[in-house]
Parts: sequence; C-alpha cells; structure tokens
Amino acid sequence: MHTAPRTGAPSGAEPRTTAPATTAPRTPAPRTPVPRTTSPRTAAPPPLVDRFGRVHTDLRLSLTDRCNLRCAYCMPAEGLEWLGRAEVLDDDEVLRLVRIAVHRLGVRSVRLTGGEPLLRRGLAALVGRIAALGPELSLTTNGIGLARTAAGLRAAGLDRVNVSLDTLRPERFAALTRRDRIGDVLAGLAAAKAAGLGPVKVNAVPVRGVNDDEIVELTEFAVAHGYRMRFIESMPLDAQGAWDRAAMVTAREVLARLARRYELVPVGRPGSAPAEEWRIAGTDAVVGVIASVTRPFCGGCDRVRLTADGQLRNCLFATGESDLRALLRGGADDAAVEAAWRASVAGKGPGHAIGSEGFVRPDRPMSAIGG
Ligand code: 5AD
Ligand code: SF4
Repeated sequence: MHTAPRTGAPSGAEPRTTAPATTAPRTPAPRTPVPRTTSPRTAAPPPLVDRFGRVHTDLRLSLTDRCNLRCAYCMPAEGLEWLGRAEVLDDDEVLRLVRIAVHRLGVRSVRLTGGEPLLRRGLAALVGRIAALGPELSLTTNGIGLARTAAGLRAAGLDRVNVSLDTLRPERFAALTRRDRIGDVLAGLAAAKAAGLGPVKVNAVPVRGVNDDEIVELTEFAVAHGYRMRFIESMPLDAQGAWDRAAMVTAREVLARLARRYELVPVGRPGSAPAEEWRIAGTDAVVGVIASVTRPFCGGCDRVRLTADGQLRNCLFATGESDLRALLRGGADDAAVEAAWRASVAGKGPGHAIGSEGFVRPDRPMSAIGG
C-alpha cells in the first residue's frame, strides 16, 4: 500500500452528492467474483465532451511511473528520476477519482497503466475496489510478475491484459529492454490466458534494424497461442528524446510484411479503438496495427489520462495538465473535481501533429504519462 501523507482530503468513501450513474452495458458478471455496483438505474451523467463533440468514456490510469525494464524506445539505460512516494496518489485518492469519473463523468472503461502497473503495491486490492465501481477494467503490462499475479487480478475483477513483447529472441530481448527477463514475460502471457484475462493482446513496437525482421514471427507466435498481436508505430515519447522518424516502422510497412505471409481480411476499427484490425483469412486470428503517427485516430479519441501523481492530461501529447491531486489534497469536494475535469476536457486540442513543424513533445515521457 502506498502510504503517501494525505492532507485533509476527504476519504474515498464520502457520500455522493448526485445520483449514481448507470454504466453502459458491460460483460455480465459470471466471470467476475466481486460484486459490481448495483445502483438503481437513473439518468446517466452529462457526457464528458470536448468542443469537437468527442465523448470521453475511457480513462487511462497510471499507477506508478516506475518500471523494471528499460525499453530503449522508452527510457534511457539509467538516470531517470522517479516520482517521490508522497507525490503518487494513494489508493483512496485513486479510488475517489475513479468514482468521480464513473459516477459523475460517464467513464465506462478504465485501463491501468504505468510505468509498470504490476509494481504498484497492493494492486489486487486496488483492482478489486475499482472493479466494484463497475467499469470495464484492463491493464497494460510488460508481463514481468504476471505469472504470479494473473489469477489473483482476475479474481479481483480485472477483465483483460495487454502485454508488451517486442521480440522472441532472448538476447535481443535483453538488449532491447536491458534486462534478461523474456522467460518471465512468456510465463506471464500464458498465465494471463489461463486466468481468463482474454483476449490477451500482445503489443510490439517495431523499430527499424532492431526487431522489424520479427513482424511475421511475432504474429505466428501470437496466433499459435491464441493471443492478439498488435503493432504500434513508435512515437516521440521516449524519456531521452532520441525518437527518430526514420527508425519508425509504419503501419503500412507492417501490413506489407504480413501480407507476404498471410491473406488479410480487413475487420476495421472496433469503435473508437486505436487499433485497425485484420483477420487472417481462414482463421479466427486477428492482428492489429496502431498507426498513431501515420494515421492518427485523434478524431475518434475517447480517452483521458491520469498520471500517477494525479495530473489529468486530455491527450497523450498534451503540453499542459490539470492538477487534480492539489484539489483532492486541498479538500475540494467532488463537484469541484468534476468541474476541473470537465474544464480540462473542454480545452482538449483537435489532435497531435507528430512530424509537422509545430509539433512540441510533451514534457513527460510515456512512462510517466501512461500508455
Ligand atoms: N512509442 C510507441 N509505443 C510505445 N510504448 C512505450 N513507449 C512507446 C513509444 N515511444 C508502448 C509499450 C506498451 C504500450 C503501453 O506502449 O510497448 O506496449
Ligand atoms: Fe517499461 Fe513499458 Fe517503458 Fe518498456 S515501454 S521501459 S516496459 S514503461
């Protein structure tokens, strides 16, 4: 458990001042042992909408900026400073913000991110408390520690996981992540599937000259194990500022390589999801590409992000943040937090423009924002 000092903020269990929201239909409960919110059906809260009419129903919640790997496209080998313990929201603070999001802002899905969210102490208990609020709940992880934790997280109410895996070759994995842990990741994937945290998605960031020769191999691996492979274009969000457009492998290139091996049938983009998906003809296997750079999906964006230290970001690439932690610790009531949240989303820009003249990198790297 985090033991950050709390300065007068009301507890996470304060009485709500408005009617509870109903959540959108979600996968019904049989897979889920924790009780979900059983509020009476009343009017949904006004949508969390921006000036372009985008309705925000998905919360990316970073639980820590720490990580036990050092992927080269994400972090320098050493020297990255972590947030201090007291800066990170404690469980009650996280819960309070998720409750506001679900009950007052219409958020329906929550993705737990990091850094590496499995490093958060007491994660299963926190997952249980978040799941009880009713959102669809998923987690993005590097897979280290998942073998040990998958069943408990599932039992606590986690629905799905995405696991990052950029290579199947142990030496390459060690070079890329600067840690010799591929065995833990493969065991974590298997445990996630066995625990029912599916469909298990495998995320890979192909980088030219590093792992781009493994696009087909990774896909074959995923297909053989019943995982969903997804390739993500690398974005200029690394902590060291070394992103190089020329090293980015585009979605188009990924598809060209896959098309040499498979016949691909387009499935389209499920809802506002960032991945465009293809089915491998004659199978149930689906492979996705996330073309964040070359085909940005900002027009359908339904996401808001909360950093581990309680800063609300209306975009991965936002250059500003709203300090919800200061509101919580300053004793603000739910209505004030809701108002700040709505104001932040109202001020959301149309989208990022990576690669264009005016593009400004966000102040924080991806590991501190949450994926
Ligand atoms: N560009 C694209 N994807 C990234 N990830 C981490 N850093 C970057 C980056 N700079 C990926 C991780 C993980 C997901 C959360 O985002 O590999 O799968
Ligand atoms: Fe850690 Fe994820 Fe960054 Fe790799 S990409 S160093 S696993 S936060």
